[in-house]
Amino acid sequence: MKYQQILEEIHKEVVPLLGDGKVADYIPELAKVDPGKFGIYLLFLNEEAYYIGDAHEKFSIQSISKVFMLALTVAHLGEKVYERVNVEPSGDPFNSLVQLEYECGIPRNPFINSGALVITDLMISHLNNPKEELLSFIRELVGQEDICYNETIAASEKACGFKNAAMVNLMKSFGNIKNDVEEVLDLYFDFCSIEMNCNELARAFRVFANHGKGVIDAKRYITESQFKRMTAIMQTCGFYDEAGEFAFRVGLPGKSGVGGGIAAILPGEYSIVVWSPGLNPKGNSLAGMKALELFTTKTGTSIF
Ligand code: DON
Repeated sequence: MKYQQILEEIHKEVVPLLGDGKVADYIPELAKVDPGKFGIYLLFLNEEAYYIGDAHEKFSIQSISKVFMLALTVAHLGEKVYERVNVEPSGDPFNSLVQLEYECGIPRNPFINSGALVITDLMISHLNNPKEELLSFIRELVGQEDICYNETIAASEKACGFKNAAMVNLMKSFGNIKNDVEEVLDLYFDFCSIEMNCNELARAFRVFANHGKGVIDAKRYITESQFKRMTAIMQTCGFYDEAGEFAFRVGLPGKSGVGGGIAAILPGEYSIVVWSPGLNPKGNSLAGMKALELFTTKTGTSIF
């Protein structure tokens, strides 16, 4: 298949959409990002790689870090994680408080903010130095050292992170947060502030495409069963209240972030990452989703 040509066609088709999305501005630092940026990186298990556009420019991965947080936490704690967080799609925005009260402080899934805040709490309770360990885990998956937190973005979010603060406090009142709420929030904002480019994210997600095993080092990072479960959650919960639409249009398990990144996998075949900062009203990259829809359509590849 002529993958490079396909990426070029997709690029041409989505350029007119780049002005349609809206860059996330509820985190002031993210509002400064150029909405005209666009990149794709496609990486196969057999090392074949193709890219286009700004695929080597770092961006704020935001909620894509929730996949790494979950992987590291289940690798340490196993199934126990799912006693504190459910695995159902929320059908609600990623920062919604409504369900949390009805459901007694148990988040719908680990890929919405409340769920990731519970995962952060578990990491504080069970890891020696979660801030350092998450970064080392990601660096190992990518095979590269220069992946870092962005303190300016974390501070910018902390200054306006009132909804996340409300969620942690509500869950604390139900007994589903064990540590100090400020400590949980600070660490969560750090996790969201990680910066990576499409190439680096594709390398990390390729481990997940390879069922949780390193392609180069053959190291098992998560078990086959943990892989199955995590991929199912990506498929059903990776795109907030647009997970159904993403499955319908694209047909790959994945995760988006409000920085405009989307990382997706076709297990056993490839990882693909797209970055375009303009978001649709649901908070997913507008051109990014279109690009992935075009990709799975043109290549005839999807899990369905
Ligand atoms: O907590 C927030 O609102 C952001 N740091 C991350 C939001 C995001 O990317 C989508 N959330 N699941």
